[in-house]
Amino acid sequence: MENIDWKSLPFGYFKTDYNVRSYWKNGEWGDLEISSSEYINIHIAATCLHYGQEAFEGMKAFRGKDGKIRIFRWKENAKRFRRSAAGIMMAEVPDELFLEAIKTVVKSNEKFVPPYGNGAALYIRPLLIGTGAQVGISPAKEYLFIVFVGPVGPYFKEGFKPVSIHLVRDFDRAAPLGTGHIKVGGNYAASLLPADIAKREGFASVLFLDAKEKKFIDEAGPANFFGIKDNTYITPDSSSILASITNMSLRTLAEEMGMKVEQRPVPIEELETFDEVGACGTAAVISPIGKIYDREKDKVYEYCKDGKAGPVSTKLYKKLLAIQEGEVKDVNGWNYVIE
Ligand code: PLP
Ligand code: COI
Repeated sequence: MENIDWKSLPFGYFKTDYNVRSYWKNGEWGDLEISSSEYINIHIAATCLHYGQEAFEGMKAFRGKDGKIRIFRWKENAKRFRRSAAGIMMAEVPDELFLEAIKTVVKSNEKFVPPYGNGAALYIRPLLIGTGAQVGISPAKEYLFIVFVGPVGPYFKEGFKPVSIHLVRDFDRAAPLGTGHIKVGGNYAASLLPADIAKREGFASVLFLDAKEKKFIDEAGPANFFGIKDNTYITPDSSSILASITNMSLRTLAEEMGMKVEQRPVPIEELETFDEVGACGTAAVISPIGKIYDREKDKVYEYCKDGKAGPVSTKLYKKLLAIQEGEVKDVNGWNYVIE
């Protein structure tokens, strides 16, 4: 085991020993290669550099009390990765290659999988880029699939404590018929400036609205949004948000806990009515939201007034982590154990 201060890991890049790569050329994927270099050598006219042919994924591997390493719902990430590729005309990574890459990169970096009970996990970052040269706007004829990993702590420095969020009216991250529903780099580039403004003003993140009417909640910069009231889990339905696998799992868990689940447009005014609200995602897990500030309307929505996460968010968070760390029975078959 590496000599790492697991408990105080931030969410960030961490150099490990290996990453894995496969090249798509002449219409097919090459054998998976293991590399110890953190660099790639690509053409100056590669489409990822000029026209944003880039998609990525985010997953986590957890070490259980039993010492086993579990990966959460990899098939859903593989499926979304294929959707992202298809959405911007890149070669799709088949599930078998995706899984082989994940298994290989996790096993070869096993010493970087945080020990059980530190609130840390091994973050897995699959990446797909157009490497073929084009100057006219058209898809590349060559692609590179890379997976790197690194141990991470909580995405928001607050951990499982309420964060303050800035409701954004003067920026959109994605258009209703654009690329917001897939995980491509351009969406994140569009979120950098509003997120930076929010951070400089002391907010942990931003909450985007629907781009067309600015009437409904879309999602946070790196995570989906949910609200809780009347024993109901409510989360936005929108064509410009990423279909979060964490959110999908929380909807199932909420149902299993006897709650109602609603996936529908969520008007801004409804923020007033929620007992609890939160952001959810692989990196964010569940980040309870304590405050949402709507500058234009000079309005603050407040939750968790005692400074603690609400009871439903806490229950969902604990249940999700217990499944991911193999503490409770995985009744839905979400975990894949790395042998
Ligand atoms: N929304 C955005 C914009 C994200 O980047 C992420 C992170 O992947 C999520 C939501 C959460 O998705 P998931 O739960 O699949 O990680
Ligand atoms: C994730 O939750 O995996 C993300 O990708 C969010 C962010 C780091 C982009």
